[in-house]
Amino acid sequence: MSSVVIVGAQWGDEGKGKIVDIYTEFADVVIRYAGGPNAGHTLVIGDDKLVVRLLPSGILRPGTLCVLGQGMVVDPTVLVGEIDELKRRGHDDIEARLAISDRSHLILPYHIQIDTLRESSLPKERALGTTKKGIGPAYEDKVRRTGIRAGELRDLKQLTGSVEASLEAWAPVITALGGSVPVAKDIVAELAPLAQRLVPMLTDTSRVAHDALKHNKRVMLEGAQGTLLDIDHGTYPFVTSSSAVAGGAAIGAGIGPNRIDTVIGITKAYATRVGSGPFPTELDDEAGAHLRNVGVEFGSVTGRPRRTGWLDLPALRYASRVNGIDGLALTKLDVLTGLPQIKVCVAYDTPAGRVTDLPIDQLDTPGLTPVYEVLEGWDEPLASARVLDQLPRAARAYVRFLEEAAEAPVFLVSVGPRRAETIVLHNPFVGRAETP
Ligand code: GDP
Ligand code: IMO
Ligand code: MG
Repeated sequence: MSSVVIVGAQWGDEGKGKIVDIYTEFADVVIRYAGGPNAGHTLVIGDDKLVVRLLPSGILRPGTLCVLGQGMVVDPTVLVGEIDELKRRGHDDIEARLAISDRSHLILPYHIQIDTLRESSLPKERALGTTKKGIGPAYEDKVRRTGIRAGELRDLKQLTGSVEASLEAWAPVITALGGSVPVAKDIVAELAPLAQRLVPMLTDTSRVAHDALKHNKRVMLEGAQGTLLDIDHGTYPFVTSSSAVAGGAAIGAGIGPNRIDTVIGITKAYATRVGSGPFPTELDDEAGAHLRNVGVEFGSVTGRPRRTGWLDLPALRYASRVNGIDGLALTKLDVLTGLPQIKVCVAYDTPAGRVTDLPIDQLDTPGLTPVYEVLEGWDEPLASARVLDQLPRAARAYVRFLEEAAEAPVFLVSVGPRRAETIVLHNPFVGRAETP
């Protein structure tokens, strides 16, 4: 048995797509366990780029079974669009190696309508800056117990009744927001051709995961979003609505927590955030512009410019604690090339004194200031490095510094968006490649 969780250690967009794709070369099954089309996971193969939003990032590895777990919220229109895009690219077998949990919840057009109306009706300081993909309302429907599960696509008559009940619960909200309440029958009529496409792939994916582990297959559990966007552990209320952390993998894939062997946390060599909410190490200067421009920090789903800042070690240690991170994948180290100096937040000064633990619920309190350590920069490009020794001395020192301060070994260093632009130090499906 071998199962590995890949989880974002920051506010999302850490490079999960690339790292899942790299390690999936050695996996048999990849399961996305949380979130929906708010995710945008980028895969760069040669000069070809693909951004997946619902499909697991292992999808380009031939023969890999890809699973959408029950922790997800699935927009049928987006999913069929992604499947067709993959077919256009020549992946004709995609439907044969895709399994969709019949207990995942559906995002329907009114979830998107509510998300959009709500965001635009809120005053600027309270708007979350959501991706407007209907994520919040779909998960709200789920916990209110009026949600629509993918399995209901099998019986359109029953589905109509469920959509009517869900709409009844939402009608006062839609009306108060100035929208018009849609008709259940119209929604189901639009769903019918999509249902025909998706129903053959619906199954009890917990059974798929269980059988794979029982037969000693290698299972990759792919997170979406990141620890600081998690509904319980993130910077609430500026979070998403799902369990993004590693614990969410057990629930979202339908396996016991004792079936997870390794947790890999992904962090960029700096920090970014898209959407609203506290970000104490945020930069509004030349260094911040360097990170955005060189790192191409623009949302892969919404195209919004990402906010940029220095790496936050208290936040990384916090992520390590709440996820049980065994090792780190450090991405985008190459983006730091050319910065004269690199700062890293090592602690916080608060009105009550200096703390090294992340004061997660006080991040936007006046008087809270990050304490920085300044490290030496470097000018050499890193993209051709394949082993740590090929990195310039200052870049190696940066990796070492993080490893010690984060109290977790570095398993992988990414020095560019392409598959080959990677230094693999440890592969949890295989073993240690290079002693750091
Ligand atoms: P995800 O949501 O965690 O999968 O990350 P995104 O795909 O939203 O954003 C990461 C971006 O960084 C994508 O454009 C990747 O192609 C790119 N990327 C990933 N790793 C590296 C790296 O090591 N260096 C550089 N320069 N780009 C990277
Ligand atoms: P990946 O998987 C970065 C952010 C949104 C917003 C908040 C709530 O690509 O890392 P939502 O639409 O989920 O209700 O928005 O969460 N957010 C992300 N930020 N990467 C993501 O996904 C995100 N998914 C949601 O910007 O601040
Ligand atoms: Mg992303």
